[in-house]
Amino acid sequence: MKILILPDREAAVAACVDLIAQTLTATPDAVLGLATGGTMEPVYAGLLARARAGEVTLNRMTSFNLDEYVGLPPGHPQSYHTYMQERLFGPLGFDPARAHLPRGDASDPMAEAVRYDAAIMAAGGIDLQLLGIGGNGHIGFNEPSSSLASPTRVKTLTRATRAANARFFGPDETVPQFAITMGIATILRSRHAVLLATGGPKAAAVAAMAEGPLSARCPASALQMHPKATIVLDAEAAADLELRQYYETVHPQGQEVSLD
Ligand code: F6R
Repeated sequence: MKILILPDREAAVAACVDLIAQTLTATPDAVLGLATGGTMEPVYAGLLARARAGEVTLNRMTSFNLDEYVGLPPGHPQSYHTYMQERLFGPLGFDPARAHLPRGDASDPMAEAVRYDAAIMAAGGIDLQLLGIGGNGHIGFNEPSSSLASPTRVKTLTRATRAANARFFGPDETVPQFAITMGIATILRSRHAVLLATGGPKAAAVAAMAEGPLSARCPASALQMHPKATIVLDAEAAADLELRQYYETVHPQGQEVSLD
């Protein structure tokens, strides 16, 4: 794991945008795995700004989102289809044929999950997988107790996750109970995993992910097994890391240190 600690949220987001831009500069037709949630909103704003400035080309990539709520059709205001459409795909004029999300309204959600994993494989796998982390250590919607070898499938959301995501729903709406999520095995097959965490409420989950045991109690700890995982943090999200000083020595201000 490469652990980059940036002084604040803005710098952490910029570092994350840099990593995505570097991948797309090297490989404009890269396959990106995308995440949703509050943490990612400034990432998509940053990517859009760079695309508009002509600094990165986003229109040649292919994307696969991590997850979608079961029961929500693509046009539902709280679906992740709509989230992506509003924050990235719409403003970009992105070719819908290149943008993939699981269909929450599939008549057979289990079969949809299997189809989705097969579509990722058929696209050649994911070059860069963007991830957030839940306060309970979930990645995608792989909640605690998820198999660390899981394929894409339907998961039951925890009460904590539904409560955390209620902020995106109206007062009279209920957060769906189930989601289709990329599995942990799917995430571990990505060629580069980039996890962004910002803010104090993520500090305990970040410490469990990076320094705790490899355990289904903290599904994000599976990233300890990823051959190339980059963890991008702001100072608040890094606050509970015991070896923080070491990580800051290895990558001061999130930078590479030259060996000579
Ligand atoms: C969203 C996803 C989730 C979120 C996580 C953090 O597609 O897969 O794992 O990344 O719940 O959400 P925020 O950023 O809203 O705290």
